[in-house]
Amino acid sequence: MTSRLARRALRTPFVAAVALLAVLTTTAATPALAAPVWLTIGEQAHAVMQRVAPQVPTLAARQVAVNVPVQRGRAALRQASETVRVVEIDEDMIPTLSMAVHMKLAKCGGFMQHESLAEALAVLHRLDGTAEPLLAPSYAIDNPAEVNAMLPQLQASNLLSTITQLSNFQNRRYNSTHGVAASNWLFSQWQALNPGNRRTVRVRQIPHTWAQKSVEFEIIGTGNSGETVILGAHLDSIAGSGIETSRAPGADDDASGVAGLTEIIRVMMASGYQPKRNIRFIAYAAEEVGLLGSKAIVTQQAARRDRVVGVMQLDMTAYQGSPTDLWIYTDYTNAAQNAFVANLAATYLPTLTVGYDACGYGCSDHAAWHAGGFAVSFPFESSNATYNRLIHTASDTTATFGNQANHALKFTQLALAFMVELASDGTPAARNEAAAAKAPLEAARVSRSR
Ligand code: BES
Ligand code: ZN
Repeated sequence: MTSRLARRALRTPFVAAVALLAVLTTTAATPALAAPVWLTIGEQAHAVMQRVAPQVPTLAARQVAVNVPVQRGRAALRQASETVRVVEIDEDMIPTLSMAVHMKLAKCGGFMQHESLAEALAVLHRLDGTAEPLLAPSYAIDNPAEVNAMLPQLQASNLLSTITQLSNFQNRRYNSTHGVAASNWLFSQWQALNPGNRRTVRVRQIPHTWAQKSVEFEIIGTGNSGETVILGAHLDSIAGSGIETSRAPGADDDASGVAGLTEIIRVMMASGYQPKRNIRFIAYAAEEVGLLGSKAIVTQQAARRDRVVGVMQLDMTAYQGSPTDLWIYTDYTNAAQNAFVANLAATYLPTLTVGYDACGYGCSDHAAWHAGGFAVSFPFESSNATYNRLIHTASDTTATFGNQANHALKFTQLALAFMVELASDGTPAARNEAAAAKAPLEAARVSRSR
């Protein structure tokens, strides 16, 4: 528990320093109680780890190709190669490591935590920042009529209203009664956006092994392609201790993202929009405690018949920390799809500026999709040096961003363009032809499974 709390606190420097001291004393006193966790860890973070925990052995390693910005904040990417390792460490070491990595590293090369050695090895095996997903979809931008008809309907005032209502829950912790109530509230909000109970729409709650459920709004595509595009955000919030009593409004982190999903659903439904591919909006439970909801959903995806062709994550969109509007995070995301996202911005939001940065570790639900081998993008509110420092505190309220949602609106617009442009293709015949040209064996397998 200490380590989880300290991990949350790491986002604010003073609390982080206190937490680090607390953890160092706790770990020294109770080494035998620590549970093992497995990490996939990049080169630079590994070097840092060797300073704080020199005895930790490497269980597996692999050379992985990664795309990194030529210069911080610049669009141009260069290919680099780094060794990613799997290591086993005590859970109690995570805050110390996390703190050391935050303090010592510029950005690239973080670590990701896994619940089993098998999961860590599977992720290591799939990790390759430059690999395109098999059967990469067309990233052509060719639906201006549909996109331009819907973009102006997205309203900042509606975003602010949803953010405010989500912030009004005492907290949205994954294991509190408030977190459960917030999930139930969002479920009924999303149900209300499908008043005629359209047969092509399914709204559901996804139960987990903890109390808070994820919420999903799905529109079945007309193309019968068996392909799906996903937009996600996390429903839970966290700050301080006290499961029931702590105040965690989580307005920016991540009511802003959930509000974006809600507003896109509203406009699509009001417009009678019908995608060709399936579209799914997911408000993940339990992101703040280790991406638990998204990891569970990525695991469940393996048993589904549809193929996820693209995913976007909206986590923190409301606070503008720098003059640059849209920051595309390059780590734990797909380079080809990120280029598509930048093109969408240039096409549909030409007045907005785009920057590039990285978290340095799997900082939100996009990392769970990336680890599962899916193409995912993560457009973010600011650079990693200028994000909203009040997240994970009782002060993550709408006041921090001036009680307006103009910045969040930009990400909502970008996400709508992403969903419509990517969901507009995907007739089965076209897919299979493209598949046959690219990878004959895989194409045969894909068409048989449909
Ligand atoms: N929204 C944050 C991630 C974030 C914060 C990205 C600041 C960029 C800048 C997210 O909800 C979060 O807090 N993630 C955890 C890690 C996760 C694996 C539990 C974090 O960053 O400590
Ligand atoms: Zn978040």
